[in-house]
Amino acid sequence: MDNNILPKFCLFASGSGSNAANLATYSLQEGLPLAFCVTDREDAGVIEKMQKLQIPCHIIPRRKGQTKEEHEAAISNFLFAEEIEWIFLAGYMRILSSSFLSKFYSPNFQINRIVNIHPSLLPAFPGAHGYKDAFEYGVQRSGVTIHFVDDGMDTGPIIFQESFERCKGDTLETFSQRGLALEHQVYPKVLGQIIKGDFSVSNLSERQLVTLGR
Ligand code: GRF
Repeated sequence: MDNNILPKFCLFASGSGSNAANLATYSLQEGLPLAFCVTDREDAGVIEKMQKLQIPCHIIPRRKGQTKEEHEAAISNFLFAEEIEWIFLAGYMRILSSSFLSKFYSPNFQINRIVNIHPSLLPAFPGAHGYKDAFEYGVQRSGVTIHFVDDGMDTGPIIFQESFERCKGDTLETFSQRGLALEHQVYPKVLGQIIKGDFSVSNLSERQLVTLGR
């Protein structure tokens, strides 16, 4: 496929940015049209990682006195000016409002063109601490989920899931590291498929069923 006709996309990250850096490295290798990364935190580790990869990183914090709507409008105006079509969240620690999501709605696929990776096998353990919650619950297997973002908490249509084992003697740290390594393995491939339009969405009663590959 001619990569020049692929849609432009960007990454959103608030933290250390290991996933964002991994996605950026993959995009550079594959010649995918990654435009930049957006972070809401001036002290985010992702800034240095993007610098090293020579990917622009735009810092758009929520300023004092700025409402959530104003902050999101600053981001969406910038993304529209840059003709961004897809957003890949990689540890972005803000809940995006319905109004922001609707700006990226695809009537064609009937999903928002925003993808997230979550550190559990959804619908189990939604929220900000997937690995910790699963580990403390005592699961024997956990996993990672890549999903389209809707206006619920980690409830959007599931694109891809893969599980990993809890090993004897695991601590939360070793358990989370195994999960993060799995995230790094699977997220780039899924990003590539989404950007190349190599997926379909069908309706399964109330839910949407996403299938990767044609
Ligand atoms: C990952 O565990 C991801 O699943 C979650 O946030 C974490 C981000 O880690 N959404 P990093 O900043 O990419 O290292």
